[in-house]
Amino acid sequence: MTETSALGPAVAGSTRSALSHLECSSTGERHEADTLHTISRAGRPLLARYDLDRAAHTLTFDRLASRRADMWRYAEVMPVRDVQHVVSLAEGMTPLLAVPRLGAELGLRHLWIKDEGRNPTGTFKARGLSAAMSRASELGASAVALPTAGNAGAAAAAYAARAGLPCHVAMPRDAPQAVQGEVRSYGAELTLIDGLIHDAGAWIAQGCSKHGWLDLATLREPYRLEGKKTMGYELWEQFAARAVGVALPDVIVYPTGGGTGLIGMWKAFAELIEMGKIEARLPRMISVQPCGCAPVVRAYEAGQNRAEPWENAHTVAPGIRVPRVFADDLVLAAIYESGGRAVAVSDEAIVEAMHRLSRLEGLDPAPEGAATLAALDLLVQQGHVDRDEHVVLFDCGTGLKHPELRPAS
Ligand SMILES: Cc1ncc(COP(=O)(O)O)c(C=O)c1O
Repeated sequence: MTETSALGPAVAGSTRSALSHLECSSTGERHEADTLHTISRAGRPLLARYDLDRAAHTLTFDRLASRRADMWRYAEVMPVRDVQHVVSLAEGMTPLLAVPRLGAELGLRHLWIKDEGRNPTGTFKARGLSAAMSRASELGASAVALPTAGNAGAAAAAYAARAGLPCHVAMPRDAPQAVQGEVRSYGAELTLIDGLIHDAGAWIAQGCSKHGWLDLATLREPYRLEGKKTMGYELWEQFAARAVGVALPDVIVYPTGGGTGLIGMWKAFAELIEMGKIEARLPRMISVQPCGCAPVVRAYEAGQNRAEPWENAHTVAPGIRVPRVFADDLVLAAIYESGGRAVAVSDEAIVEAMHRLSRLEGLDPAPEGAATLAALDLLVQQGHVDRDEHVVLFDCGTGLKHPELRPAS
């Protein structure tokens, strides 16, 4: 069997996953990996751990060259054991685009955009939900459920359809119409909540305890993180392929709601170091939130390790309207450990950045993705980014879901 024929397994059926156990992110307590879990016994996120010595032997650039062109190419450090349980729509391996016109305007020589809008369902939520749905299917879940700002609901509904699993989605009533329509199209049951994502979370938690649905809320199950971490593995591979002289970017700018991607990439870099694939010089992780909902920024500015809930959250970027960040400690740890920062941007700056990315580079970003450009503007003005540094902005979704934010004329 060649590496391209499946996930690169030596034995038919096996993915070659080196998953060993789950670990409580707070206490370090071990949990067995091959039964369904949500949070740890201490009530905190569970992190998937791997036999990285073993994984390092086969997770090489040579082998990767002949593997499938999606996030499942990193099979050794993915949690699914059997190929038949991989629930995939070809997510990941999104382009890393150089944006020289935008770079020139900002005075930066090496500016890149990771275009996550190319993913199935139009956002990087596809990565997390592909991984979570695969594991839910492998471990025998009978139905899944999640609260969402919108995009994760669309992705969950699509992957549940692909897996043949019933799916229950709850989102704020004012979530984008486009996303509500997607969830219904994929056949999931949609409940609209008069409130925000945490109110939807309370509704879903009740349904889970009443009906036995598996709760796939952000970081309340271990595997969405594993899907999102592949963005870090892709940067490692894509930077190597471009031979730009650095193994990873100097700066990563990431729009932060629940923080799964930020925590996930930080986890990926730690795994790569442990496998001996990269040196300890890591990107500064910049967390971006809207001024109308910035609990992580407020905690960062006060030097705190936990973030208080944000009152009266509002923004044009629904994916980053997350007033209560469940894994706040992990988000803040990634920012502090990396020497990064947290930056708040106004809605006006977000909309202006959307239009600027389209006019200058032909991209059609989600407002959440455009928020990273608005933040970069501030970082450059304040001298936090050097003109010779390699900077990656995460454009996490397509602008097609937001017709209301198009230029009026
Ligand atoms: C388009 C978009 N960008 C960013 C985010 C925030 O992602 P994360 O949960 O990884 O912080 C979301 C979450 O809903 C989103 O939909």
